[in-house]
Amino acid sequence: MSRQVRILGIAGSRRRDSYNRATLRAATELVPEGATIETFELDGIPGFNQDEEQNPPAKVAELKRRIREADAILFVTPEYNYSIPGLLKNAIDWSLARNLL
Ligand SMILES: Cc1cc2nc3c(=O)[nH]c(=O)nc-3n(C[C@H](O)[C@H](O)[C@H](O)COP(=O)(O)O)c2cc1C
Repeated sequence: MSRQVRILGIAGSRRRDSYNRATLRAATELVPEGATIETFELDGIPGFNQDEEQNPPAKVAELKRRIREADAILFVTPEYNYSIPGLLKNAIDWSLARNLL
């Protein structure tokens, strides 16, 4: 039997009644057999600081670990000013920081 494909779902909105968070919740329920979606909340991720990239804050270290453990990442995000929200961009900046992925 082949192993489950692990998908990490990340919403680009922290809003309580966010349509994107609701969509991600629906995706976790609708995911086809053979795959799972676990979610990660971006609350508490501090603003990126390159001085800390070698020794990141605990929440960032957790995000990076969860990304490493996943086979794929599913971003579900609103558009903010013709781009992605700063919250999500910041998390991606931390995630791609040198030596840590
Ligand atoms: C600061 C800000 C910027 C936005 N910029 C855009 C935009 O460029 N294009 C767009 O279609 N909607 C834009 N919106 C609308 C959001 O995409 C919309 O409110 C969305 O539902 C927010 O996602 P959420 O429901 O998951 O919180 C913007 C909303 C905010 C608060």
